[in-house]
Amino acid sequence: MADLKLEPTAAMVMELGAGVFAESELGRRYMAGLDLSAAAELIDEHRRRGILELTRELMCNRKAAVRRELLRLVDQAGGAVQVLLLAAGKSPLGLETAVERPERVTAVFEADVSVPDDKRRLYASLAPGPAGKVRFVRADVTSPELPALLRAAGFDFGSPAVIALEGITHYISPEACRALLGVFASGEGRNAVIVEYGPPLAALADWVRPKARAAFSIIERRYFPQGMIKYDRAWFEAALRGLGGGLERHYPMEEMERLRTGANRFFSGPGSGWVEVLTGRL
Ligand SMILES: C[S@@+](CC[C@H](N)C(=O)[O-])C[C@H]1O[C@@H](n2cnc3c(N)ncnc32)[C@H](O)[C@@H]1O
Repeated sequence: MADLKLEPTAAMVMELGAGVFAESELGRRYMAGLDLSAAAELIDEHRRRGILELTRELMCNRKAAVRRELLRLVDQAGGAVQVLLLAAGKSPLGLETAVERPERVTAVFEADVSVPDDKRRLYASLAPGPAGKVRFVRADVTSPELPALLRAAGFDFGSPAVIALEGITHYISPEACRALLGVFASGEGRNAVIVEYGPPLAALADWVRPKARAAFSIIERRYFPQGMIKYDRAWFEAALRGLGGGLERHYPMEEMERLRTGANRFFSGPGSGWVEVLTGRL
């Protein structure tokens, strides 16, 4: 039964990324618990503007890359590690990680301005043991109160953590983004971070730019008229270095596609996608 009702953008992200969640039994059962009906209008507009298939592939590549990197960084930690998903939304990534790496992951923290009780219940019904490790933290990730709220939920700033920022940099300013990364600067590279972001339209290949513009405008017109915020690899490289850490890996869309599907069918060449993922140390 579909219990967890999603608002339109969250529903759209889950609908477009469904191909990745369908790869596991847990993902399929989680998806069956979601009510994605609110995505219908947004999906329809993607179809009308001729970007549905491309955006679906892009979202699946993003979802697969973030999950793959999260598990890789948990493994790379070499011992017990905390996982923190900033602006976790309705993604099942927290539960998937607790299920996939039961010996490594001590706790998963999902921080978001909205913490739905129905997501908590869905997690508990799907995998009661691993769900017990997931702590939902109601927090604005740009607020100075974030560290105290995390600490109160049991997050240990003295122990290693893998931290993911997926689907959030688009909505926060560079100052807020740098401050957020700074919260996790350990001074010794103890923490790993995964960041998903949108590069400036000017950096995209000519054939992609109109499609990217259409994809962003579908969201901006309804929910973010001030315009979604763009970042690039150099910005994060400088920010991470300025915080005593550094960039580790960078995945443009064509590489994410190749790693997920083994080929480049939709994205090839530089600037072929309007989403990138990188990892770094803090
Ligand atoms: C597009 S969804 C991304 C969800 C998930 N990370 C993913 O990629 O599937 C954006 C999420 O960010 C949350 N959010 C937006 N601004 C936030 C803020 N300042 N602090 C915490 N959460 C925020 C929203 O509540 C929503 O759940």
